[in-house]
Amino acid sequence: MADRPKALVTAPFRGEGLDKLEQLADVVYDPWIEQQPLRIYNSAQLAERIEREGANVVVVESDSVKGPVLDLPLVAVGSCRGDPNNVDVAAATARGIPVLRAPGRNADAVAELTVALLFAVNRGVVRADRDVREGEIYRDGTIPYQRFRAWQLAGRTAGLVGLGAVGRATRWRLEGLGMRVIAHDPYADDATHSLDDLLAEADVVSMHAMVTPETQGMISAAQFARMKDDAVYVNTARAMLHDTDALVRALESGTLGGAGLDHFEGEHLPTDHPLQSMSNVVLTPHIGGATYDTEANHSKLIADGLEQLLGGGKPDNLVNPEVLS
Ligand SMILES: NC(=O)c1ccc[n+]([C@@H]2O[C@H](COP(=O)([O-])OP(=O)(O)OC[C@H]3O[C@@H](n4cnc5c(N)ncnc54)[C@H](O)[C@@H]3O)[C@@H](O)[C@H]2O)c1
Repeated sequence: MADRPKALVTAPFRGEGLDKLEQLADVVYDPWIEQQPLRIYNSAQLAERIEREGANVVVVESDSVKGPVLDLPLVAVGSCRGDPNNVDVAAATARGIPVLRAPGRNADAVAELTVALLFAVNRGVVRADRDVREGEIYRDGTIPYQRFRAWQLAGRTAGLVGLGAVGRATRWRLEGLGMRVIAHDPYADDATHSLDDLLAEADVVSMHAMVTPETQGMISAAQFARMKDDAVYVNTARAMLHDTDALVRALESGTLGGAGLDHFEGEHLPTDHPLQSMSNVVLTPHIGGATYDTEANHSKLIADGLEQLLGGGKPDNLVNPEVLS
């Protein structure tokens, strides 16, 4: 390309990827994550900003890349997500605009939170912390050793439902803890179990599937009933994978030992929801991917992809390779 591109970057960018992008293009860096109140551009706002900056590359995380944005003469769009669902890819393709994505950027981050939730549930970490803070170490006349005994994770079986980027990053961590790890994924050659067999064998069931018509609600009353007594259920993927009412019933009946959840439908769990008062449930507000490493990873993936595109290559993370033919 003759002219040096100008990139508007509204995603958080850091590390090697930021350095490379600055070598490839003039960069206007204004990440959404440093804005308070929250600033997510709709398509009209983003189009206006791109025009104002005179940019021909745009790199976003959550801003909407649709409609008027794709009427602009863009050289490339970078979406710092595994699934670039904030981009109208069909419209970009129709206009010949390459779209880059960032697969697996947060796999290690989510896997680490999965392990954190599993330990927190299994060892009652949050409950124990509360007892200390409330001066209730000897709650109800017991000593902590009486209330906090648990089976160790080493030697137990973990069943992973979904063996994609996060599932794989979770598998080696749990194996490293001494767990036997089994997996169900109809699309992964190295998955070991049917869903029914996995549920019957696993002491820990951990969700790592994407949401599709096939996986939506895949863990419902019948699946909770099939799990071993006292099993721990962890979902750092999406709440849509399970039936929340059935999860509550399984916990209330005592058949399920506990749950760790990082996502709620609509991103919100009402404060009077039954899960809120269960001491064997640990709740986090969709923070699985929230690491600086995630930002460094997506920066590198997008900058590497852009470098290849500008050099006439076809990057692996190009969503619409047909624009190059
Ligand atoms: N908590 C967070 O902050 C956070 C961050 C990133 C991803 N996620 C979620 O984690 C999940 C996994 O993400 P990923 O990056 O590993 O995605 P991925 O696309 O790499 O993996 C998803 C896997 O699900 C499998 N799958 C499809 N249908 C299935 C079925 N019927 N049963 C079992 N497995 C099935 C696919 O074959 C694939 O291997 C997704 O739901 C994603 O939305 C959460």
